[in-house]
Amino acid sequence: MGVKIVETVLRDAHQSLIATRMSIDEMIPIMQEMDKIGYYAAEVWGGATFDACIRFLDEDPWERLRIIRREMPNTKLQMLFRGQNMLGYRHYADDVLEYFVQKTVANGMDIIRIFDALNDIRNLHSAIHAAKKEGAHAQVAMSFTLGDVFTDEYYVNYAKQCESEGADSICIKDMAALITPYRAASLTKALKENISIPVDLHTHYTSGLASMCLLKAIENGCDIVDTAMSPLANGTSHTPTESLVAALKGTEYDTGLDLVKLTEIRSYFMTLREKYIKNGLLDPKVLACDANALIYQVPGGMLSNLLSQLKQAGKEEKFEEVLREVPKVRADAGNIPLVTPSSQIVGSQAVFNVLKGERYATVTKEFHDIIAGKYGKTPTPIDPEFSKKILGDEQPITCRPADLLEPELEKLRMECAEWIEQEEDVLTYAMFPKVAPKFFEKRRNKKYGVDPNADAQNRVHPV
Ligand code: CO
Repeated sequence: MGVKIVETVLRDAHQSLIATRMSIDEMIPIMQEMDKIGYYAAEVWGGATFDACIRFLDEDPWERLRIIRREMPNTKLQMLFRGQNMLGYRHYADDVLEYFVQKTVANGMDIIRIFDALNDIRNLHSAIHAAKKEGAHAQVAMSFTLGDVFTDEYYVNYAKQCESEGADSICIKDMAALITPYRAASLTKALKENISIPVDLHTHYTSGLASMCLLKAIENGCDIVDTAMSPLANGTSHTPTESLVAALKGTEYDTGLDLVKLTEIRSYFMTLREKYIKNGLLDPKVLACDANALIYQVPGGMLSNLLSQLKQAGKEEKFEEVLREVPKVRADAGNIPLVTPSSQIVGSQAVFNVLKGERYATVTKEFHDIIAGKYGKTPTPIDPEFSKKILGDEQPITCRPADLLEPELEKLRMECAEWIEQEEDVLTYAMFPKVAPKFFEKRRNKKYGVDPNADAQNRVHPV
């Protein structure tokens, strides 16, 4: 059996390169052709796409999913799902999570890729079980990061827990492009020796290593890899699909995909790429190779966030100092992986520590909540002295954070009752309670012939 390819051009590639702004109208002309390629799966939904649909594109994300399902009946559809956060930015009660998964699968999703920023298995439990109950494939993605704690053994242990929890496959999720080719080799090998479910490698091209990493992982038994059609590959996106297909052709790893057919798909995305460059959505800067992530061991996006926070404070000269503070804050916070949302939380706290000239003189609410256990269990325990310094008399929680949440689906239904046009709308509202009503109103106006651009000056435009 050759290597299986997950095509990410309809989700992660445009999320990474053009802030998730590809619209369904831009996808429709090519999806039937993509459906003929024979990809193992196409990642098309979840992550930031849901948010971008209602916030920037005036698109119903559920309608988008139904259209994709209609246009690509022969390809498995895959989505990215942030554990108990789902597609939002807080922990949700299990009743909302179960309903979301039920509706997602009913509208056509096949594979749900579930991850937790802290790699706390308890935050994945409900999502894995809900996916399996609905008959979907539950893939667990392990947040990959560097540090003394994050050895191959750490990931093997985590993967074993995921497998016994019912995961159908495991993904190494290297969102910050930190994995190197030989680490990809040793980690894949260790996983393959210790678990029996398929292994997938998801790594970004940011530091220029991705294709080498995929190759080494494949040579060591990796079953599935994530790539993107070349016009939206490289840079902060992924390895180009065509290059990997060509590299493996005629070997025992042959993907079986037809390079000639792929170049037809490429032509279409090339016209989109040119359009994105012309309208400024695609900044050539994100296509450049950047090894800073490897030097500072923080995600590329975090570097630019820190710099812009410091610029706003007029303290750009503190950049190096903040970068040195990040590992210290991360260690205090139990060595959490730096991925959304933990990267922003650690970054902001490091900035405060440096600008105040005193560590933890100001503590953000989010940092406080990490120390209080509200995001889950950290990879290493928090030092009790430090915990007391941040929390005072408040006791940290040790249970699964969602266990403290009452069922909330009915309450949410009541809150958004006036907007409901389909059952799924309550879930859209649950994910983004501030943005969803504006989206619902525009949708209603469109339906009744009110000029949808009437309030255009109030819209947030992509930058
Ligand atoms: Co990614």
